[in-house]
Amino acid sequence: MNTTKKLKILVTNQKGGVGKSSLSTNLAAYFAIEKDLQTVLVDFDRQATSSQWVVHAKPHPKLRAESVSQVIHGGNRLSLFSARSTIRDAAAKSDVVITDITWSPVIGPDILDVFDLVLIPTSLSELELLSTIGLLRDLRMALTKSGAPKLVLCPNKVHPFQRKFNGMAAQRFPVPFLLAPPITQSKAFEVLHQKDFVIRAGDDDTQARFRQFGQAIEQAAAFVPSSLSAPQRQAAAAPTEAMRVLHERTQNAPANSPVVQPAIEEIPSIIRAKPATI
Ligand SMILES: Nc1ncnc2c1ncn2[C@@H]1O[C@H](COP(=O)(O)OP(=O)(O)O)[C@@H](O)[C@H]1O
Ligand SMILES: [Mg+2]
Repeated sequence: MNTTKKLKILVTNQKGGVGKSSLSTNLAAYFAIEKDLQTVLVDFDRQATSSQWVVHAKPHPKLRAESVSQVIHGGNRLSLFSARSTIRDAAAKSDVVITDITWSPVIGPDILDVFDLVLIPTSLSELELLSTIGLLRDLRMALTKSGAPKLVLCPNKVHPFQRKFNGMAAQRFPVPFLLAPPITQSKAFEVLHQKDFVIRAGDDDTQARFRQFGQAIEQAAAFVPSSLSAPQRQAAAAPTEAMRVLHERTQNAPANSPVVQPAIEEIPSIIRAKPATI
């Protein structure tokens, strides 16, 4: 149960190189710089890529980072407790908390309870999709129980001319999910890695696309799954403070209501993928 009214986002995958740090850092910059929301990036990664990134980039008054890699890797109740406290404490001091974790089974799925959204960056290569599906299978219980965070798959490093999404449509997913607009493979992400944010220093196209991604994540935060019962929907729709702010700020944006779209040609915005029958 979330008791604090803040937006708490987990960015995770067990694979390295999929863009966890790129996504979490740039998304944190999006909320801080574009949305003027107090944002904390909590970095549980041993490499501390994300927190170093924020340290190396030109400071922004709304953005700060915390590196706490030692907290989560104990794999026991105490480390779970400390990890949750770290996130709750960060949320108490900010509007948005973004957490970067390289997933490992030792962490355990209970940590997911503290988040509103779970973002899983993945490329669309078959190998990486299969690995991502494996992770979803492991997290299935934690992602489908009542009060579970909403799952958003975030295709990353998508080739600019890769319009078809056949690789994904061919897979069966063990849990329903929201699909973020794809983040294309772009030089800006490489050049700015650990130096600056695409929203501030990227080329126009990369900026515009990342902005679209950020807006989709805001929509995901406000999204109410149609599978919920009426009272559940009502409870889920009660806006938390940060979400309300985000919602109000995006009210004038074009309506992009999630739709069920089994055959995907192009991903203009968040869609709700068909849950797999298993
Ligand atoms: N959309 C993208 N386009 C081009 N390069 C990317 C993109 N996203 C990530 N990268 C690159 O991939 C590498 C791994 O990214 P990173 O965010 O550190 O992954 P992770 O945290 O999952 O290990 C980095 O060199 C980064 O610049
Ligand atoms: Mg990383």
